Amino acid sequence: MKKPIFYVCPECDGMLQGTGEFEVKCCGNQLEPLAVNKENSNHEIDVSIVEDDFYITINHEMTKEHYISFASYVGFDRVLTVNLYPEQDAVVRFPKMFRGKLYLYCNQHGLYEYTI
Ligand SMILES: [Fe+2]
Repeated sequence: MKKPIFYVCPECDGMLQGTGEFEVKCCGNQLEPLAVNKENSNHEIDVSIVEDDFYITINHEMTKEHYISFASYVGFDRVLTVNLYPEQDAVVRFPKMFRGKLYLYCNQHGLYEYTI
C-alpha cells in the first residue's frame, strides 16, 4: 500500500484516511494532510504478543484535554483503525501483519508513526 495520508477535522475530530492526493472538506473547512512527527520519545509504546496479536500499550494520558484519539495499523493491503476515547485505557490490539506500520494520533501533538 502507498503511504497512508490522514486528515483530522479540527471542528468535529472526524478522521479520514486515504493513499492518493485528494481534497478533503469537513465542517466547511478544507483539511490538510497530517504531517508525521519525527520524534516519538514523548509518545512511546510497548508492544507484546498475545495469542498471535500485537498488544500495544501507549504510554500516554487519556484525559478529556489530551488523549490518543485513534490508532491505525497499516499493512500492505489493509488498514485497521481503532478509535480511542478519553478515560479509557490507552491499549489497542491488532492481528500481526508483515512489516506493518502503526500510526497514533494525539489530539494535542499530532500524528506519530511506528514500525512494528
Ligand atoms: Fe500527546
